[in-house]
Amino acid sequence: MYDPQLHHDFRLLLSSTKNVKPLREFEPFSQRAFANLSRIKKLFNRLYGSLDQAEEQYWLLIQDLIHAFKERSLPLRRQDLDREAKRDWYLNEKLVGMMLYVDRFAGKLSDFEGKVDYLTELGINWVHLMPLLKSPEGSNDGGYAVSDYRSVDERFGKLEDLKRVADKLRSKGMLLTLDMVMNHTSDQHEWAQKAKAGDPFYQDFYYFFEERFMLDEYEAGMPEVFPHSAPGNFTYVEELKKWVMTVFHKYQWDLNYRNPIVFREMLKVLLFLANLGVDIIRLDAVAFTWKIPGSTSQNTEEAHVILQLMKACAEVVAPGFAFIAEAIVAPQEVVRYFGEGENYGRECEIAYNATFMALLWDAVASSDTTLLKMGIEGIPPKPKGTTWINYLRCHDDIGLGFEESHLYSLGKTPFLHKKYLVDYYSGNFEGSPALGAPFAFNPKTGDARISGSLAALAGLEKAVAEQDQDLLDQSIRKILMLHGIILSYGGLPLIYYGDEIGTGNDHSYLDQPDKSYDNRWMHRPIMDWEKADKIEVEGSTEARIFNGLKKLILLRKSSPEMADHNSISIEDSENPAVFAFLRWNMEGAKTLVISNFSDSPQYISSALISRCGFTPYATMDKLEGEAIRMYHDLLEVPAFGQYWLTDLPTFEAFQAAKEMDKLKQEFEWPRGN
Ligand code: GLC
Repeated sequence: MYDPQLHHDFRLLLSSTKNVKPLREFEPFSQRAFANLSRIKKLFNRLYGSLDQAEEQYWLLIQDLIHAFKERSLPLRRQDLDREAKRDWYLNEKLVGMMLYVDRFAGKLSDFEGKVDYLTELGINWVHLMPLLKSPEGSNDGGYAVSDYRSVDERFGKLEDLKRVADKLRSKGMLLTLDMVMNHTSDQHEWAQKAKAGDPFYQDFYYFFEERFMLDEYEAGMPEVFPHSAPGNFTYVEELKKWVMTVFHKYQWDLNYRNPIVFREMLKVLLFLANLGVDIIRLDAVAFTWKIPGSTSQNTEEAHVILQLMKACAEVVAPGFAFIAEAIVAPQEVVRYFGEGENYGRECEIAYNATFMALLWDAVASSDTTLLKMGIEGIPPKPKGTTWINYLRCHDDIGLGFEESHLYSLGKTPFLHKKYLVDYYSGNFEGSPALGAPFAFNPKTGDARISGSLAALAGLEKAVAEQDQDLLDQSIRKILMLHGIILSYGGLPLIYYGDEIGTGNDHSYLDQPDKSYDNRWMHRPIMDWEKADKIEVEGSTEARIFNGLKKLILLRKSSPEMADHNSISIEDSENPAVFAFLRWNMEGAKTLVISNFSDSPQYISSALISRCGFTPYATMDKLEGEAIRMYHDLLEVPAFGQYWLTDLPTFEAFQAAKEMDKLKQEFEWPRGN
């Protein structure tokens, strides 16, 4: 919106700021600023408009943007322009990610550089390096308690090393994601230390209360995130004789975004990370940033405005920089992080599809995909230009909250169903092959989540321990089938490090006092490179998983319909054990993905295939590279098997199939009998 006064003041500010010469270089920045100034002001005022300092802080914020742009390197500025023109850079089928802890995967950042080829060999071209900024030794929640946002922790190396890694990835056409821990700092952060020393300016950076009764209203509405290891939401600071808000662990102090200076400081951190060459930032714990007494203090309107404002500012400085919302909340709430109302599609471009992930695990434990289908149909549509991260495992636990009305309609009691899942994945249910463990059991509510690696939850770990060949084959098929889903479902697939070779649980955390209270460490393994070497050994478990996954990745990348333009429909397979969805694009490419969640062969009728616009007898499976065989109009889907169905090739496609044939000779696709 054109606002002559605002624009005039902006021009003045820009020309009076030191070192912005030549002004010509600031042209794209200025244009973007003109387009966004009024919106930024409006959003800023929604948070801070009632404060005396609002006007002053607004202009300081704009000045922060000028400084951040000044710091942005020429290659990144150029990349911004390219990405502005090519909005779908983060939506396309070519992207396949992996998340990993640098130290546990490789050692230091310099060691990580030597492992990049291993990632590219698999087909990874986007990496999420888990928290590596400075955090205290000992308990630091896996780096999610940051004590300095502008330096790399010495466990990983130096800031220069991170810059070199970012450059190396960019030169290889790979994308980089880092975390921005925005809800809280470590209690060792300079701001927290100054607050603790009595400085009122910094005490205002956090939520402090002198008397217990003052926080009771907050506490009453707030759930506990870690009820087992960090009960309550406040911690008493002896030195100050005051309470400070600590929603996560007691060493993670919640930032007070009601203070505009906190907002500005955190925005500067965000842009600092963007200027390092981060392509996609993972905004940690975004649901928690604005607290309101008496409410759950999650997903508040203002928490969304904070993100919209950050996005609007980032669009001015670094438009080629995308946001991931880490909001592990109910689906109706998650989609709000893409932006709604007048901010539709203008908040975070990407969000974790935690609901989908949990539903997949439900379907595995139940050999039934009915709840999965109901659950994803219940996820509200998302704006064009936004996308999901689809994943099976990450460094966190798996929450098992499903829409209760869905469970009731299936004759299931939510509490008992959750208990079944917790028992199943902890291996406490007769016949379950899983070896996970309950996480954050809350005796007050009976609630629990699940920890455990993919291999442990899928039965592979048990199969290896018991040398059970059938279970081994079955769990490898299950692991590949699940990966096949996240690689073809609408969104960006994100693979968890170690899962590509079937890494089991790591129990070494139990001997470390700074970790033993948190069993999420059981699925944060130290990468076993001897095990990884076995991908070269034909027929080994590692080779079967790695090569199977590699082939799926290749297929995804060569299927343009896998790009996420909301081009997916869930299909009725008429068989509860079978999950089917169709992916397509405007150019007519399409793939029907069919997956069997049970340990016995299942059948689907040719009607499903016809309904999706294929001729059943002229249909091929891309995974096998050959025509499907139907028996009396029925297609058999092997136990934990999967098809990626498409039209039988025309001549050009025939050539492609021949290519695939060559590939097949290299990779053995594990399939049931
Ligand atoms: C996010 C992280 C989790 C961490 C929490 C607090 O949810 O994924 O690991 O404990 O934020 O920072």
